[in-house]
Amino acid sequence: MATEKTTIFSTETAARFDRLVTLYPVKRSALVPMLLYAQDDLGYITPGAVAEIAQRLDLRENDVESVLSYYSMLRTKPAGKYNLQVCTNISCMLRDGYGIYEHCKKRLGIGHKEVTADGLFSLEEVECIGACSWAPAMQVNYDFYDELTPEKVDVIIEDYKAGRGKETV
Ligand code: FES
Repeated sequence: MATEKTTIFSTETAARFDRLVTLYPVKRSALVPMLLYAQDDLGYITPGAVAEIAQRLDLRENDVESVLSYYSMLRTKPAGKYNLQVCTNISCMLRDGYGIYEHCKKRLGIGHKEVTADGLFSLEEVECIGACSWAPAMQVNYDFYDELTPEKVDVIIEDYKAGRGKETV
């Protein structure tokens, strides 16, 4: 299938979607990966993205919205340029994950799923991110940071502010 001219996505993402629907025996299996790629492309899942994905997968918009509301890693509002996801699940909780989360809240002046006024950072309290052996841990976009202390968090935040965060190099 050729890339649709009416797509709201970048050419690259639209081409990726064209390919994705050919990879699964059932089209709707491409739904979650498609939503994740859409989020990377647009920053969050817009109503337009829901409509286009539904159309591409021969689904109703309601079907897409129900999956969208199920997965906490999918957003329907813009996040900051750097999205801090602090784990407070059991291993992290036992090693001061809540202290780290509270420190981030104080440091950034925002709460769960909020964005700083300059749009640079957003914050989320999340479940296990798979770094339990090195708890407490957090993820900034796709970068992992572990064995955190409040001091380490301060350095990480300053690095991103100054354009030295992992993702910025
Ligand atoms: S419990 Fe925090 S990474 Fe697993």
